[in-house]
Amino acid sequence: MKSHDIAVIGGDGTGPEVAREALKVSEAAAQKFGFKINWHPYDFGGERYLKTGEALPDSAVDELRKFKAIFLGAVGHPQVKPGILEKGILLRLRFELEQYINLRPVKLYRAADCPIKDKGPEHIDFVVVRENNEGLYIGAGGFVFKGTPHEVAIQESVNTRRGVERCLKYAFDLAKKRRGGKPWKGLKPEDVKAGKTAQLTLCGKTNVLTFAFDLWERAFHELGAKYPMIKRDYAHVDATVMWFVKNPEWFDVIVTDNLFGDIITDLAAMIQGGLGIAAGGNINPEGTSMFEPMGGSAPKYTGQNVINPLAAINAAGMMLDFLGEAKAGAAIENAVVKIINTKIKSLAAGKMGHGTREVGDLVAAAV
Ligand code: IPM
Ligand code: MN
Repeated sequence: MKSHDIAVIGGDGTGPEVAREALKVSEAAAQKFGFKINWHPYDFGGERYLKTGEALPDSAVDELRKFKAIFLGAVGHPQVKPGILEKGILLRLRFELEQYINLRPVKLYRAADCPIKDKGPEHIDFVVVRENNEGLYIGAGGFVFKGTPHEVAIQESVNTRRGVERCLKYAFDLAKKRRGGKPWKGLKPEDVKAGKTAQLTLCGKTNVLTFAFDLWERAFHELGAKYPMIKRDYAHVDATVMWFVKNPEWFDVIVTDNLFGDIITDLAAMIQGGLGIAAGGNINPEGTSMFEPMGGSAPKYTGQNVINPLAAINAAGMMLDFLGEAKAGAAIENAVVKIINTKIKSLAAGKMGHGTREVGDLVAAAV
C-alpha cells in the first residue's frame, strides 16, 4: 500500500484542535482511497518556547526537510511577544524550506456565508498565488539613530529575477492546469476565439512602486508569451481589493508579491465566508511544503470545542492533492461542501450548530 509520511505541528491555541479534525478526515480519505499516512508530531509552539527559550531547535529545519508535507495548526501564544513565534517558526520554515509559493484558493461554498449582497458560489472562485520568500518579508533594512528624534527606519522590498520568475511560472502553470483546457467563464467570446482559456491577473502597484513592479511586469509579459492560452491581466492592488467586493467574478488566478498577497488574501477569506473556511499551502514544488488553515491560534476559543475546523480540513485536502492523492483531495472538498450546505448553521466559531469534533466527524463520514 502506498504511504505518506507527514509532519504535524499542532502549535498553539486552537491549532491542535483543528489539526486533530484535519487528521481525522485525512484518515477517512486514506481508508477510502487505499493509502496509508504516517503522522509525525512535533511540539513546536508557544508552550515549548516558554520552557526552552527557542522557537525552533536548529535541528528542526533539517529534520522537517525529510518530509514532503507538514501540517500546521496555528502559531501565536498570548504569553509570547508577537513576532517571535511567527518569525521563529512560520516564516523561518517558509524561508528555509524555500516554500516560495503561498497558495490560497478562494471559493465560496454557500451564498449565505458571503457578506456581499447578491454574490453566490458562481461569483467567487479564484486562486491567489502569493510570492512567499521575498518582498518586504525578507527582513532587509534597519534603523539609524534609533530612539532619537532623528530616527530613521528603512524596510526594503527585495525582488529577485529568479524569485519573481519562479513564482510567475507557478502561477501560469496553475492557471493552465486549473481550467483543464476548458475556457474560464469570465473570458469574452473574442478571447476564447483567440485561443485563451484562462486568465492570470498580476496584482501590483506599477504606478508607484516603479522598481519592484517594473521587474514583475516585465517578467510577467516575457514569461506570459510562452502561455498563449492565458489571457494576461493587470490590476493595481488597491483596485484589486475594490474588485473583490464589487466584481469578484472578474478573477481566475491572481499572482502578487508577499505583502500584497498577505493583505488581499485576508479580504479574500472574508468574501468566501471567513477564516473558519480559508485554507492555504506554503509550497515548494520540489521540496517540503506546509499546509495550514488561514486563521490564527484564536486563544480565547482554546479547548472549548467551538472553533471551526473546516479551514484545517480544507488545508488537509490541499495537502493530499499535493501529495498526489487528487481523488482524496477532491473527496474532502466535496464532503466539506456537502456538510456546509446540509448541516452547518454558520462558519463562525461557536455558531456552527455543532462542536469542533462533531464537524470533523460529519466531514469524515461524508468522505
Ligand atoms: C499569513 C499570516 C502570516 C503572514 C503572519 C502570521 C506572519 O498573516 O500567513 O498570512 O503575514 O504571512
Ligand atoms: Mn496574513
